[in-house]
Amino acid sequence: MRRPFIAGNWKMNSTRAEGIALVEGIAKGLAADCSVEVAVCPPALYLDAIVAAAGDSPIGVGAQNIYFEASGAFTGEISAAMLKDIGCQYVILGHSERRHVFGESSSLINKKVHAALAAGLVPIVCVGELLEERETGKTADVVAEQFYGSLAGVSAEQMESIVLAYEPVWAIGTGKVATPEQAEAVHADLRKVIEARYNSAVAEKVRIQYGGSVKPDNAAELLSQPNIDGALVGGAALKADSFLGIIAGA
Ligand code: PGA
Repeated sequence: MRRPFIAGNWKMNSTRAEGIALVEGIAKGLAADCSVEVAVCPPALYLDAIVAAAGDSPIGVGAQNIYFEASGAFTGEISAAMLKDIGCQYVILGHSERRHVFGESSSLINKKVHAALAAGLVPIVCVGELLEERETGKTADVVAEQFYGSLAGVSAEQMESIVLAYEPVWAIGTGKVATPEQAEAVHADLRKVIEARYNSAVAEKVRIQYGGSVKPDNAAELLSQPNIDGALVGGAALKADSFLGIIAGA
């Protein structure tokens, strides 16, 4: 069985104090026997403070990006080892905002995936189609292409530890959530792509989160789909109540 995994992507939001209060609120609201894996991904500047605030609660902490080199003259960048050094466990890679606002290609994301794995971070690798790609019937091809490109050279053993997130770009931050059927269809296709690239044992182990306007009132239905193993949450991850409401739906 795949353990449900709910991660909050705070993007470029919150102050230090708000972030600490948010993680403390989530920790307080989590049931002691919560079986869901939970993580928050604050802005890089606050990671250290959020790791400290999460303390020995079950909340894991992830970053939203890295650079793929280990160290050196890369002004403004942060390495995977630096994140590991301060107690991060995860890093979101290939988020649609990185792909479409910052022009990151699957081959760049692939280098970051290898850097994250080498440092012992769990990559949360995002894939997803634009609205025009969906409307022209290209969803499956786009998602498969992003999968193959972003995960080139990843071994079967490494693949089992990677988390995928299917995030249709048209559903991110728009309030337009994919229907459970639309999301499930892409998740099932993606699992077949993993099986074709690796094998059925790997495909059965890899967790695939859904992301795009997940809210407490739509989470349970999405998360009840057989191939949806969690959620990557943006807007609704910025309030403890709504994030806890999504966790409760898992
Ligand atoms: P959203 O963002 O939940 O605000 O739509 C999701 C994401 O970008 O991961």
